[in-house]
Amino acid sequence: MSKKLYIKTYGCQMNVYDSTRMGDVLAPFGYVEADSPEGADMVILNTCHIREKAAEKMYSDLGRLRIEKNAQAEQGKRMLIAVAGCVAQAEGEEIIHRMPYVDMVVGPQSYHTLPDLIAETERTHASLTRLEFVEEQKFDLLPESLQTQGATAFVSIQEGCDKFCTFCVVPYTRGAEFSRPVEAILREARTHVSQGAVELTLLGQNVNAYHGRDAAGNEVGLAQLLTMLAEIPGLTRLRYTTSHPRDVDAALIRAHGEIDILMPYLHLPVQSGSDRVLKAMNRKHTAADYIGIIEQLRAARPEIAFSSDFIVGFPGETDADFEDTLKLVETVGFASAYVFKYSPRPGTPAADKAGQVEESVKDARMRTLMDYLDRQKLRFNQSKIGTVQPVLMERKGKKPGQGIGKTPYMQSVVLENAVHYDQQLIDVRITEAYGQSLKGEVVGAASTEAAPVQEALFSSADARP
Ligand code: 5AD
Ligand code: SF4
Repeated sequence: MSKKLYIKTYGCQMNVYDSTRMGDVLAPFGYVEADSPEGADMVILNTCHIREKAAEKMYSDLGRLRIEKNAQAEQGKRMLIAVAGCVAQAEGEEIIHRMPYVDMVVGPQSYHTLPDLIAETERTHASLTRLEFVEEQKFDLLPESLQTQGATAFVSIQEGCDKFCTFCVVPYTRGAEFSRPVEAILREARTHVSQGAVELTLLGQNVNAYHGRDAAGNEVGLAQLLTMLAEIPGLTRLRYTTSHPRDVDAALIRAHGEIDILMPYLHLPVQSGSDRVLKAMNRKHTAADYIGIIEQLRAARPEIAFSSDFIVGFPGETDADFEDTLKLVETVGFASAYVFKYSPRPGTPAADKAGQVEESVKDARMRTLMDYLDRQKLRFNQSKIGTVQPVLMERKGKKPGQGIGKTPYMQSVVLENAVHYDQQLIDVRITEAYGQSLKGEVVGAASTEAAPVQEALFSSADARP
């Protein structure tokens, strides 16, 4: 008899990937994924520790799950609750002390042990913790079988990070940088494509630090790996995330010019435009270095657009530092961006630094920067009106008949009477543009070509507020 599994994913795309892999691990044991925790046999919370809010959210969700668990217990059923992901790794046993009804705490490197943990807790009724750090084993022991859901798929190629930005927990929760072997990645990618994926996103905490080995034992960088993947027949879109500016090398810049199916859109977090703050963050690059990389990428691929992450209110950040961030935004011109208020994370160097910034100042800077970036985003979206974009249709819209898909720039496009295009790549003329989405009409049959039409470059001469 099948069992009901509910997985809730918090945080980044790496967690989205890990959640699908946990589903793959448990599928042979009869677990079928459901979209709510009601009546579930097992619930997994795949958690995020990057900012305090994300971790708090997990604790409030656990409170709600307890009610469901108790209700099931009254009917003689035992609903298992597992906490996975980065909060599991960071807080470990502490979670079980705080919430004794949690049955398992399992770190990101130990998902392959889930079936054993389930068997053991079913036998002993004890709460279990598994936090080993053996990346190689994790990938080796995950099942070869994959569930490909739709036309887009993620492939994790790299985990962990050695950069030690002073605000970030990742080097502690995900451990040292580790690159998967080339063959394993190619195998996983081919499987996804043979099961219907046309778009692959390569994932890693610091994905462009990738340096895996090929079958002959030679080291392969991200640019070379992308070239190999681009040869898979049937694959029409390639993306990778998240990159560090310091690891954008000449080969990767060239790859952006040479590989057609590599989408002209790159998420390249900068965090700040102030050299003083970048140094205190241990980012290992200056604002000018970042702008130089952007210029080289634009020279290699004129239609490329960028998104980024920013942190406001890092300890010691002054008004002048914040102005430098606004200047960088003005110079680069982003298609999209995320802004975060600095959140002190226990155990990271910046958490104990003098000069912590007042919450009210963080709020004000966040609003200013977000307003500015939102305006750039709207301008970027508007620059697509009248162009024809290849759109990969991904899901239904809110209204009957509506379909929603993504342009090469990850913009959501809403189409009327389009449900029959689900999971197809189609050419769409963009007719309207808003802050968060575009509207358009279908212009032809399914496109086989992912390269977008040439169009006016997004102007970076966006006026500052
Ligand atoms: N506080 C606020 N934002 C953070 N990020 C990482 N750590 C912190 C922190 N302590 C942001 C960075 C990173 C993104 C994934 O999360 O901008 O690029
Ligand atoms: Fe964190 Fe910096 Fe590594 Fe990114 S590069 S995961 S921000 S330590």
